[in-house]
This record gives sequence, structure tokens and C-alpha cells, in this order.
Amino acid sequence: MKLVKLIANLGYGSRKDVTAMFRSGRITDAQGEVLYADDKVEHDTIRVDGEPLDPPAGLVIALNKPVGYTCSTKDQGRIVYDLLPPRFRLRSPLLSTVGRLDRDTSGLLLFTDDGGLLHRIVSPKANLAKVYEATLASDLSGEEGAIFASGELMLEAEKTPLAPAALEVLEPRRARLTLTEGRYHQARRMFAAVGNHVEALHRSRIGGLTLHDLPGGQWRTLDSTDIETLFRG
Ligand code: URA
Repeated sequence: MKLVKLIANLGYGSRKDVTAMFRSGRITDAQGEVLYADDKVEHDTIRVDGEPLDPPAGLVIALNKPVGYTCSTKDQGRIVYDLLPPRFRLRSPLLSTVGRLDRDTSGLLLFTDDGGLLHRIVSPKANLAKVYEATLASDLSGEEGAIFASGELMLEAEKTPLAPAALEVLEPRRARLTLTEGRYHQARRMFAAVGNHVEALHRSRIGGLTLHDLPGGQWRTLDSTDIETLFRG
């Protein structure tokens, strides 16, 4: 791909803007030598204003989503893209969230611009576990685990019962729920179905991938080893 198109696709500006950036010498190699629009160079040797060029297409990101951010590209309030570099919202191909978390849910949220990978992660065939820590308004009765594991729990307005889900009681009002599906507000609706209410919900794991020590509001790029870990779960 031509450099102007490549750099424009990474959200640095229109092709016209990027052409102007070349003309003013803002695009260089790693040694600071000015690059020209028709040069042939490796992606990781390119610098813009001395800074390494953003990662190429095929980007995968893990964000530790805080409460209060919506998984949307345009919402009135705060959106998850506000936590990424502003350029990332302008990339082509588009950097999308892999599934969603509710505004009031925190934790592990993936983004990718690789449609094939996104599909592989969300596909029911992958059967990836999504692990949530829930804080509840009332004490657990002890019967929830069997109900969630039954494969027979029917949520309101749904046509098919939920797949079996695993529940681990951590404290009287705290539990770890492992889901393999991603129905709308699923965890909250499951606890509502057994007469409880979720006060806080945090996703700690997808497949084999955890947040490790990624602080709230921070993100990191994932490499091929992380993707293997994700699918190994
Ligand atoms: N279940 C929910 O209720 N909310 C989420 O964000 C994810 C799973």
C-alpha cells in the first residue's frame, strides 16, 4: 500500500493532510531522514513527528473498561473510544469492540479491526468463557448455582433457554459467573430471574485471557501469544 494511504488509514488525517505532512518533512525514518510519499519502507521504521507510526491493521486491544463508559462510537456521554488515542477512532478498517459491556459494567473489553478474528471470538462455535464477578444486593440463597447450570433457565422475552452457566459463590453477596453466551444484559437478567439484583459487575476473563494488572481505564495491544492465550481458555 502507498504510504499516503497507509498513514491516512491509520487516522492521521485525510490523504491531502498526509501529503502535506510529507511535504513539510514531518514523516521520517528511524534515523530522522525525511521520507517521500513513494518511498518503500517497513512500517516500524516510520516516524511521524519523531514518534513511531501507530500499529498497522490487524490491531487487537484489551481495555480495562471503567464504569460509566458506553460501548458505542457516538453517544451523548462518555464512550470507550474516549479512553484510546483519538486517532484510533478514525482508523480504516474500523476498530470495533468485540461484543459489548454495559455502561455500568467494568473490566476486560477487546477491540479489533480484524473482522475474521472478531467473528472467531464471538462465534458460539468458539464457546469462549466470559467470567464476571458480581456484587449483589441480597445474600445468595445457595440455589442459584443449580438453576444457572440447568440449561433450562428462560429469561423474559427470550425464545430459548440459556446454556448452562457456572456460578461460584465467593461471599454471601459476591459471586463469579462463567457464561459462554452473550445475551443482552445477561448476567444482570440472570440474577434478576432468581430474585436478586446486581449492584456491580466486572468482567475478569475472556477465554484464557485476563486483565493481569492492567489498571482501570488503561489499554494495551495484544500480540499473537495473547490471542493464543485467549483461545486456549
Ligand atoms: N452481562 C450483563 O448483564 N452486562 C454486561 O455488560 C455483560 C454481561
